[in-house]
Formats: sequence, structure tokens, C-alpha cells
Amino acid sequence: MATSSIQLTEPELKLLQTLVYQECGMYFDERRAHFLQDRLQRRLKACRLDSFYSYYRLLTSREGRAELSALLEILTVNETSFFRNKPQLELFQKTILEDMLHRKQDRRDWTIRVWSAGCSTGQEPYTLAMQICDALAYYYLRNPLPFDMPTPKPLIPPPWRVEIVASDISYSALRTAQEGVYTEQQMEPIDYMYRLRYFDKIGDTYKIKKNVRELVQFDFHNLKTEFLPQRNDFIFCRNVMIYFDEAEQKRLIDKFYRCLNADGYLFVGHAESLFGLTDRFKMVHQNNGTAYQRLEVEL
Ligand SMILES: C[S@@+](CC[C@H](N)C(=O)[O-])C[C@H]1O[C@@H](n2cnc3c(N)ncnc32)[C@H](O)[C@@H]1O
Repeated sequence: MATSSIQLTEPELKLLQTLVYQECGMYFDERRAHFLQDRLQRRLKACRLDSFYSYYRLLTSREGRAELSALLEILTVNETSFFRNKPQLELFQKTILEDMLHRKQDRRDWTIRVWSAGCSTGQEPYTLAMQICDALAYYYLRNPLPFDMPTPKPLIPPPWRVEIVASDISYSALRTAQEGVYTEQQMEPIDYMYRLRYFDKIGDTYKIKKNVRELVQFDFHNLKTEFLPQRNDFIFCRNVMIYFDEAEQKRLIDKFYRCLNADGYLFVGHAESLFGLTDRFKMVHQNNGTAYQRLEVEL
């Protein structure tokens, strides 16, 4: 049976488009307007309201905060995968991280801090956790330190410390990420050595091991706001900026600049680039992988 939908007028669409943009930075241009309209229809029905103007009034009222979260939740695209963009991850692990470990060791700074901004259901931060564990174990083999290695051998060799903050605007994505349980299909990019080392098989699914999960702290952060994780060596914000317009992308890149340590790096998605948006980063490109290094410039 066909369900009737309520008419969304041009001015109502504009109001709601602007509200969403102001709240989370997502910009729905003509190409994506039908997606926005479809999601708005769904929420209108769920709220049992009879006009989009009433819905807008609800969203902008104090009582409407929960509904606003529900709307933002269904507007996000949570597509992600383990080891997404392999050439970029190779560049991170084999070159950039290795170099960072040397520089940190020279200045006796043993903390590695990573922020996965827009982490979706956790595949990105867990991929980074696995990569860092492997890189540190290999680094330790070649550069043993005069510290007693406790038994059983810890995942992170002392005195190194790894802190990964993973954030998203979607509470349901964060809950899935925190649980860390993945289907065989989601595990497809992960080879069996990684599966053995970092996952427990539970029935038909794979659960990320507790000691890997504990390296990652999941948190709600809206990238539109100013209160964001600071002092990062690496920020991964991949496949998030594509949903923002140019003005919002520029603002976000400025925030990332401030959230990075002096010699830190920003990684963006395959279809994204900092070209024309900032001159405060230097592009590093190697074997099809790209990263952006923060430059020391006057602000
Ligand atoms: C397509 S996924 C990308 C996931 C992962 N970074 C990757 O590349 O596989 C985009 C994620 O960005 C999140 N997102 C969108 N707007 C956001 C905002 N304003 N603040 C925080 N997260 C946001 C979405 O909820 C979604 O989980």
C-alpha cells in the first residue's frame, strides 16, 4: 500500500537544509536534496507531525534536542571498511609512523596519540590500532630499550603508550564500534594472521580482542563544534569532508591544524584533498598514498 507523504515546500526545505548545515556541517546540495527529503519525510512520520514547519519548530526548540540527534543520525553515511585505502595506510605505517617513532624516542616522548575523526562503526580506528601494534613490535625488535619487558609480553612494548581517540556524531555507529563485533563479510579485507592476533572468533562473528579495544577510546564529537581532541600526532578524517561545503571544509582544516602536534600529520579520504583549502600543510605522496604534514606557520 502506498503511503502518502506530506508536501515539503521550497522555503521549508531551505530552513531545514540550513539548520542541518549549522548543526553538523553536512551540506545537501541539489544532488543530495532528494536524500534529505526522504529522511525528513521519515522523521516527520515518526513524530506524527502534519507539516515540515512544525517539524522545524520542534527541532529548534529545547524539547527537540533528541529529535535533532535522531535526524542527524539518519542523515549520516556510515560506509566504512577495515584497511580502507591501503596505499595510504602503508605510507602511514612504513614511513610516517616509523619516522615519528625515531623522533619521539630521541626526545624521550613515549606517547603516540591518534584521532580517528568520523570513525563510523570502528573499522578505521581498529585498523590503526593493529597497524601501530605491529609497527611498535617491529620497531622494538630493531631498537630494544633498556626497560624490562613484563611477562606475558604486552601488546605495546614499554615505555611506549598508545592513545587512539575515535569519534563520531552517530551514537549508534559508536555503540557498534565500542562492541567491536564484525561479520565474515566485514572481515573480508583482514588476512588470517591479523585475525589470529587481534580477534576472537565467536560463532560466525569476530570480536576485536579486549587489549586492542582498550587502546581506543570512543567518544561523541561533532566536528562542527570547537571542543575537539587536542595534542594529536595523527588525525585521520577520511570520507567525512566530502559531505561538507568548501567553507566548512576550510574551518575544519583550521581546527585540525590546532588539534595537531607540531610535526603531526592529517590523513583525508581518497576522494578528498587539501588543495586550494590551506597553505599550512605540506603534501607527502608516495606509492599512491597521500598524507599532509602540519607546517609551522604564524597563525
Ligand atoms: C563515510 S563514514 C567514514 C568512516 C571512516 N572514516 C572511513 O573512511 O571509512 C563518515 C562518518 O562521518 C560521520 N560524520 C559526519 N558528519 C559528522 C560531524 N559533523 N561530526 C562528526 N562525525 C561526522 C558520520 O556519522 C560517519 O560515520
